[in-house]
Amino acid sequence: MAAIQRRQFDTLIIGAGGGGLRAALRLSEAEASVAVVSKVFPTRSHTVAAQGGMNAALANVSPDNWHWHMFDTIKGSDYLGDQDAIEYMCRAAPKAVYELEHFGVPFSRLDNGSIYQRAFGGQSQNFGGDQAVRTCAAADRTGHAILHSLYQQNIRAKTHFFDEYFSVDLLKDEEGHVLGALVFNIMDGQPLIIEAKTTLLATGGAGQIYRNTTNAMINTGDGLGMALRAGVPLQDMEFFQFHPTGIAGRGMLITEAARGEGGYLVNGEGERLMERYAPKAKDLASRDVVSRAIATEIREGRGCGVNKDHVLLKLDHLGEAVIQQRLPGIRQTCMTFLGIDPAEAAIPVSPTAHYTMGGIPTNRHAQVVVPVKDTPEEAVYGLYAAGECACVSVHGANRLGGNSLLDILVFGRAAANHIIGHLAENRYHRPMDESSVEKAMQRFQRWNKNPGQDGESVNVLRHELKTVMEKHCGVFRNEAVLREGVEQIEQLAERVKDAKIEDHSDTFNTARVEALELENLIACGLATMHSAFARTESRGAHSRMDYPERDDKNWMRHSLYSLDTGLDYKPVRTKPVSVDSFPPKPRIY
Ligand code: FUM
Repeated sequence: MAAIQRRQFDTLIIGAGGGGLRAALRLSEAEASVAVVSKVFPTRSHTVAAQGGMNAALANVSPDNWHWHMFDTIKGSDYLGDQDAIEYMCRAAPKAVYELEHFGVPFSRLDNGSIYQRAFGGQSQNFGGDQAVRTCAAADRTGHAILHSLYQQNIRAKTHFFDEYFSVDLLKDEEGHVLGALVFNIMDGQPLIIEAKTTLLATGGAGQIYRNTTNAMINTGDGLGMALRAGVPLQDMEFFQFHPTGIAGRGMLITEAARGEGGYLVNGEGERLMERYAPKAKDLASRDVVSRAIATEIREGRGCGVNKDHVLLKLDHLGEAVIQQRLPGIRQTCMTFLGIDPAEAAIPVSPTAHYTMGGIPTNRHAQVVVPVKDTPEEAVYGLYAAGECACVSVHGANRLGGNSLLDILVFGRAAANHIIGHLAENRYHRPMDESSVEKAMQRFQRWNKNPGQDGESVNVLRHELKTVMEKHCGVFRNEAVLREGVEQIEQLAERVKDAKIEDHSDTFNTARVEALELENLIACGLATMHSAFARTESRGAHSRMDYPERDDKNWMRHSLYSLDTGLDYKPVRTKPVSVDSFPPKPRIY
């Protein structure tokens, strides 16, 4: 075999969404050499799909401050979020928004010229009864605006991009330090070793484990799979967010901003259903509450349509001008995919898989942390994670809408800050353990040969995975359903070992990419299903019908799922840095 080509950089960033690009920009500006590897052209990364906005207590529209943002986030997380990380994020939010403004993000504006903010779910109503209005928006294309600005800034800063390269696995030295990754060029199938003093995983979530999802086809949990195979357990994977308003049966996102602008949900009886489930916040309760409400209406026969399998989101009362100015993207989506104009007709919606709240455990510097002996966590040398693939954990059991763009920007930047310090103290590349290269190459080359005639097709297995996840790990769960889910997903994990692809060519072999993605998806499915089966309480997005109450005595802890040793747990960090902690309380909206 010809020698594999090698390149050296100070930092390798895997993933070119907002988290990866924010980190890359800071590092390139600090004159580090940065490689960004992305399996798609960077501006196709999933950040581009974020619609409604980014939370920051700017107080442009209502009284607000970071401490209320912090409280709302902790309450939204159902008290599973780590309070030191949440404090860090909420305090950093205004600065993160102003930085974006200076990078050229075209935020919508108020009449006085300041950044437009809208109401989103789970925001306090404690200012003399007023709702905090905290979500900074560029119409309903906020992620698009942010991603393009960050990409342009990175081009200016001379970040080195490896576009359409797929990352196979992390590479290490003999002591387990992470020293880069094996990647390959999708265009010609050639492998490349990228040696790096530091590696940042910013690969996004794993929403493609579900059939009905708002997530792009690229969201296949690649970083999560790589972390698991490198011996890093995944944290809190049982908490998968279902967005209340995906287009029914199809999954395209209808932003929460639609309700923030005054839209509301009605059931098959024409009733405003959220008045019963969240009398105060109504349609702007947090996402887990609204998704459960819709799922309950459907289960109890009060859905809409012939199959009573969705509810309706009404926007027509807002008027065409508001819809065109504030929600042009979802108007376009409805016209294209449903043939309806939301200025005239209600949108059929149902809860749809949206966001991976669990992920690779990190501290608030974005260092990947693992339990070592009796310590709850120690940093893995050289390895960082930020954004949806990470679990820092600012979202706990339920993320607030608008905190995802914030998370990627704050912790992308935090990762870069820590990496700059690390690079100053670790100036030389370390020698690679070549056996880690061999192992990664085996994974890459395994798909060049088929294990046997009877091997199953990748497409069939992927379809089965999505069906199993949807049926056995949806909005509502119980022991029997989860037990079957565990059995079925374990079988899928066995069957994929004998799966095959027909195309073994090198040029744009998307079959091989999909096969490697499937392995990552199944790893994420295993982590999600096992963690959900084991957590015998209801908290945030994890709703067990057989254990309907939150159990703070036994379950104020994060789950850690590893491929070798199964489940372990570590405590929630309930102490913020500079303010009193928020103890768990009943969550009422
Ligand atoms: O509804 C939305 O616009 C999604 C926002 C988010 O997930 O933060």
